Amino acid sequence: MPVAKVTEDICAIGASDRDGKKLFERLFPIPEGVAYNSYLILDEKTAVLDGAAKEVEDEYFVNLESALNGRTLDYIVLNHLEPDHGAAIGRLIKTYPEAALVGNAKTKTILESYVGAEKVENMIIVGEGEELKLGRHSLKFIMTPMVHWPESMMCYDATDKILFSQDAFGAFGAEEDIFDDKDFDEERLEKMRRYYANIVGKYGAQVCAVLKKASALDIKTICPIHGLVLRKHIGKVLRLYTLWSGYQPEEKGVVVAYASMYGHTAALAKEACEKLNEKGVKTVLFDVSETDTSYLVSNVFRFSNVLALSVTYNANIYPKMEYFLNDLKALNVQNRAFSFVESGSWAISSGKLMREKAESLKNCRFVGDIVTLKAASYDKAAFNKLIEDIAADVKA
Ligand code: FEO
Repeated sequence: MPVAKVTEDICAIGASDRDGKKLFERLFPIPEGVAYNSYLILDEKTAVLDGAAKEVEDEYFVNLESALNGRTLDYIVLNHLEPDHGAAIGRLIKTYPEAALVGNAKTKTILESYVGAEKVENMIIVGEGEELKLGRHSLKFIMTPMVHWPESMMCYDATDKILFSQDAFGAFGAEEDIFDDKDFDEERLEKMRRYYANIVGKYGAQVCAVLKKASALDIKTICPIHGLVLRKHIGKVLRLYTLWSGYQPEEKGVVVAYASMYGHTAALAKEACEKLNEKGVKTVLFDVSETDTSYLVSNVFRFSNVLALSVTYNANIYPKMEYFLNDLKALNVQNRAFSFVESGSWAISSGKLMREKAESLKNCRFVGDIVTLKAASYDKAAFNKLIEDIAADVKA
């Protein structure tokens, strides 16, 4: 990713990993790649904001050197230490020994464990509302604990009205153009939603607190450390963050997720989609065996209803369906309506077990009765009634 000017004296100097085979956090597929953004302010004093991941470290340092253009680096501001950004800190300290580290008290404690206490003993410690003056610019610090690590903080530059938001407002994707000037279509939105739901989704209350602080600021540009620099679609993104952090769906519709071993449950899932579509209900269909859970979770953050269909496996829920339902709990998903179809050839119990999982989610409702698919046989009237109930709920 080439160096890009955000303003006259602020550059984006990050780098993108375009290896679509990698797993972000060794967990999430990123066929679209991911950007590790960092920013350099070239004022009377110079300051770099955040580092980069090991995978892109060399490109990051080339960009930093190029943007500094022979100037010394005065400050290394550490808004977030997670190693997808913090991996470069050791080399930053070594390359620019004269630069002062800037972080909060928790930053110091955590960073000591990564690079050794002796390297951070002179860190400048900042707190809520404190400022680091660079000349024309001054960075005002905003503590944002658990968005999404305990030491996380943001900073705001009132001169250019920029919020340096670290992970918040980030997205998957390694784009050629770092700015959000093009249309924010569903493809782009899904990269942000899947990132939010899976990385930050658990911390809705903390994100709400961030949004409250942000509402007091005049923001013209948001510079996150993943994804696009936001300057055209800030209003849209803030509205989505308000919904996501409150665990409210973006729109009415049904996530139809199925676990099927020999095709019978899959066929019923597809039939459910067709019947719901005929009734004017939007659906998205996923095979839990073929789709990474992160995509399912992202769609649950988008839509109001979930229809889960699972075969019974070793007297339990099919493992990949169970993982999905457990993930909804781990990510604190709330305010959704669930319906179930259970299947198997004998001792069918997955419906009751799935319902128990969903019962542990806050403010979740159940729509219709559990329908049982025994081998290839099911009660068609009961299935049609379930479809009617779901359609009525979505349209209510
Ligand atoms: Fe992108 Fe929480 O690190």
